Formats: sequence, structure tokens, C-alpha cells
Amino acid sequence: MPADGTALRWRGGPDGQLILLDQTLLPARCQELTCRDEKTVAEAIRHLRVRGAPAIGVAAAYGVVLGLQSAVPGTTGSLRARLEEVIRCLAGSRPTAVNLFWALERMRRAADGLLAEPETGPALLSGLLDEARAIQEADVATCLAIGTHGSVLLEDGHGVLTHCNAGALATSGRGTALSVIYAAHESGKRLKVFADETRPLLQGARLTCWELLQQGIDTTLICDSMAAPLMREGRIHIVLVGADRIAANGDTANKIGTYGLAVLAHAHQIPFFVAAPCCTWDLDTPRGEEIPIELRCADEVTHLAGHQTAPEGVQVHNPAFDITPARLITGFISEHGVFQTADQAIALARARNMPFP
Ligand code: MRU
Repeated sequence: MPADGTALRWRGGPDGQLILLDQTLLPARCQELTCRDEKTVAEAIRHLRVRGAPAIGVAAAYGVVLGLQSAVPGTTGSLRARLEEVIRCLAGSRPTAVNLFWALERMRRAADGLLAEPETGPALLSGLLDEARAIQEADVATCLAIGTHGSVLLEDGHGVLTHCNAGALATSGRGTALSVIYAAHESGKRLKVFADETRPLLQGARLTCWELLQQGIDTTLICDSMAAPLMREGRIHIVLVGADRIAANGDTANKIGTYGLAVLAHAHQIPFFVAAPCCTWDLDTPRGEEIPIELRCADEVTHLAGHQTAPEGVQVHNPAFDITPARLITGFISEHGVFQTADQAIALARARNMPFP
């Protein structure tokens, strides 16, 4: 597994920079991108140089620090105005992963507290950097806990199907769905992981396989359309995916193709689990239908690795995510444990006063 911080890291102090591994170039090239302002971070999120719900949230938090660097020193009024401008820019990068908005809200609240003090400027920047670091450190711990809780679901010899990339590259830690696989593997269970290639942008082929092979995990790449026969042949024992946003009723937005896998898993009576931190739950959104689904450009479907694969002028429908209804989800793996229903997950987190958004 790539080490924690593979997807992104902060270099330096309050006047530092955000370093991203440009995931659009993987696996052919490992090239870093240095972000010095919020616009570069927003562009990197929009173009999936940094991607995966938790990593997007952490990158945006650091983006707020970068955006404020140019406004310091300044008056409270000018700093507030700049803060809102920076948050607007970052919030407009991608609409579905709620972690982005959750992290920006945390940064806004931290800034509000800091701006209430008479001396702003440098204290504001270092306070915001502390908050962004806290978000990142919590993500690392959360990923570990998800792996530990989820690993009990996997048995020696299991065939595991995963979709897109919910691994170290999608977080600042070791991932969500892939963290479960890493923890089970480390405990000595022999797994056979099947990774969907994940059309159109191939996060499964390019990123998940890259990660799993580094860890020495038995990995087989399949085209998305190959999941059904594998299930019928009895070679898949469990499906593990991540999430970009979970509505209050448990309906889950994740990479396009996830819903199809859930239907297939249900038809073959295979358990289907969603691994995600609590900050991926959106309790203000009652049902999946209300989750905004990002529509991306036609080129992603008409072209493959820069080569045109469809005739000029064809109509294209390219939603980046779909919604899996809660009734098709066997359970949710969170940093607090494994829950069969949304109500159980929410009730436990609330009872323990745990950080639900
Ligand atoms: O478009 P992407 O690559 O950002 O989509 C990512 C996913 O769908 C992941 O499964 C999800 O964000 C969870 S990552 C731990």
C-alpha cells in the first residue's frame, strides 16, 4: 500500500504549499503538483488530479489556507471577504462528495473563531493550517479504524470485488474499502481481489490495481461488465465499495457502476458493504434522489487515453456517480463499527457524541 500521505501533503508552515500526486498520470508516471493558491487546488479537484471523497475534503481544507495567504495582513473585513471568495471557488469544483463541503464548513467555523480575536493575520493562517492538519490527521485515524472494523467481514480464501478506487489514493490515510482489504491481508487472510476497471476514467485499473500490487495482494483486473459471470460462478464472496455521500436514509452515492454491482450482488445473494467515514454521511439530505450527481464532459466517454473511440457528434450521457438504494446495502463500515442500517449507524454516533456532520 502506498504510505499515508501519498495522495497529498502540506510542505512547510503557514506560508507553505500543498503537494498533490497527480493521479491523472498514474500508473505510468508519479508526478507531483505544487499548489500555491486555491484556484490550482480547485482545478486539481475538478480534473481528478486529487480525487476520492476524503482526499477532496482534505485538499480543499488546505486550499483555504493557500487562498488566505495572499490576503494577510489585512483587515477583518477584507479577510472575511477573501475567505468567502476562496470557499466559493473550492466548493464549485465538484458537487457530489459531501466531504468537500463538510471540510470547507469546518474551515469556515475555525476562521470565524480566529477572526473574532483582535489580532488576525498570521494567527489566522497558522490557526487555519492547524485545522486543516487536524482534518487530515483524523482522516488517517479514521481509515485505520474502518479497516480494523471491516476486516472481520472477510474470511480466508474470500473473493472480494471492489469498484473505483477507495484506497490510499482517495484519502490521506490507507483508504476506506481498501483499508478493510489491507487489514484482513495483514491479519493473514488470503484474499483474491477483483478490481473493476471503472469506466470511463479507469480509477480501478489505474489506481486500485497500482495500490494493491504494491502491497502484494492477489489482484485481478476485470472490465466492469465481467462482474456478473464472476458472481454466478461463485468467485465473489463480498463486494466492498466506498461512498461520496450517504443520505440520512442510507441511500449511497458512489462511482457510476456501483448501483449495478449492488443489484447484481443482491441477485446472487452476495453481501454488499459500503465503507465510509461519518463525514461522508449527509443528514441534511433525506434520500438519495436529492444527492446532486456530477455530470462530466462527453470526451471522457468518447475518448480512451486520448484516442477517439466513438464517432464525432454522438450524444453522450456521463454521470460520474449513481445512487445505490439503502435496501441493497448489507451494511455500512464506519470508524465506529459495522452497522446494518443507516439508523443504527446514526444512533450510535449520536449516543457517543461522535463527530457526525
Ligand atoms: O470520481 P472519483 O474518482 O473522485 O470517485 C471516487 C469514488 O467514487 C470513491 O469510491 C469514493 O470517493 C470513496 S473514496 C474513499
